Amino acid sequence: MLADRLKTLAPSPTLAMQAKAKAMRAQGIDVISFGAGEPDFDTPRRIKDAAIRAIDSGQTKYTEVGGIPELRAAVCQKLKRDNGLDYASDEVTVSCGAKHTLYNIVMTLVNPGDEVLIPSPYWVSYPEQVRLLGGVPVPVQTREATRFDLDPAELRRAVTPRTKMIILDSPGNPTGAVFSPEALAEVARLAVERDLWVVSDECYEALTYEGRHVSIASLGSDIKARTIVVNTCSKAYAMTGWRIGYAAGPKAIIKAMTDVQSQVTSNPTSIAQWAAVEALSGPQEEIAKMAGEFDRRRRVIVEGLNAMPGVTCVMPKGAFYAFPNVSGLFGKRAKGGVLRTSSDVCGFLLDEARIATVAGVDFGSDAHIRLSYATGLETIREGLERMDAAVRALAA
Ligand SMILES: Cc1ncc(COP(=O)(O)O)c(C=O)c1O
Repeated sequence: MLADRLKTLAPSPTLAMQAKAKAMRAQGIDVISFGAGEPDFDTPRRIKDAAIRAIDSGQTKYTEVGGIPELRAAVCQKLKRDNGLDYASDEVTVSCGAKHTLYNIVMTLVNPGDEVLIPSPYWVSYPEQVRLLGGVPVPVQTREATRFDLDPAELRRAVTPRTKMIILDSPGNPTGAVFSPEALAEVARLAVERDLWVVSDECYEALTYEGRHVSIASLGSDIKARTIVVNTCSKAYAMTGWRIGYAAGPKAIIKAMTDVQSQVTSNPTSIAQWAAVEALSGPQEEIAKMAGEFDRRRRVIVEGLNAMPGVTCVMPKGAFYAFPNVSGLFGKRAKGGVLRTSSDVCGFLLDEARIATVAGVDFGSDAHIRLSYATGLETIREGLERMDAAVRALAA
């Protein structure tokens, strides 16, 4: 019945875990969720007010497919202000969240059989989107020893005549890696040399705790001409539900992405677009406050994880995820059986510690699990205590 392209499609495991934890809570079971992929803060008042003003003033109709001119201008200003990047408004397009933006890019650039290099561990949607459209995702390993920095030599070895694109995610989900400027510069050289497209997913830019966020597009005109920068209002402004993501890149590609969108969704919600204008161009102080709070939580969670027997965790440099290595628990016996995989560990933690986490296997590493620290400090401490007790019981 279903189309062939659905044969390999895996539904989003992060959303599945959230649903499972929610269902357990509905049954009265006290589950602590480390599954969230979104800030636990509320959307700032000034942004909500802009949306209310948009409704009251009748901004409730179809808009330009790629976003109202005011929003594209606000995106251009943001890219100039934060990234030192110059784009004209016809080099920018707005979609229903960055996930949608990324899908439009793959649709626009990847032919069936084209290979797309994806540093691994990776965000789950990259390989799925590529596969859905007939492309071949090629994971390229990054390592804990370098805090999951890009390995340009390994990327170079993975390039073949079929390679079309590299997807970079920095700060990264799930590893929290912030790619070093040196590695980015080498990847830029590789892309220019081998005529590759670079997608630079900068959705967690605002949540960079160590080092400074650098967009690969800012490293020179050659690389800018073959890069599509992707960003979103979701994480920096706690606007995940509003669904506003955007891309900046060469005009012909932006136009093609907008043409695709014109046949699929049309414009992103008009009201959310006006909220995004305010988000991007209004005062930016809330970001630093939110990032400061995430930074505190990052230290608490990583310290707690490293104190557990059989668990080691590198300090993430950005985003809001800890990605501990739990392979030290493999071979130990839990009630449900011997732990052999990241999914076993997540199942054990849900059953025994009543904490929801996400298995690393879906992100390209079966040695790890992902814990989001986009939840209050007290909840993090309580969750860590439960996990610690469960893991120690195993060890004993
Ligand atoms: C790495 C990465 N890119 C893109 C997105 C998509 O964000 P949105 O579609 O809400 O803009 C996410 C969301 O979790 C993400 O983790």
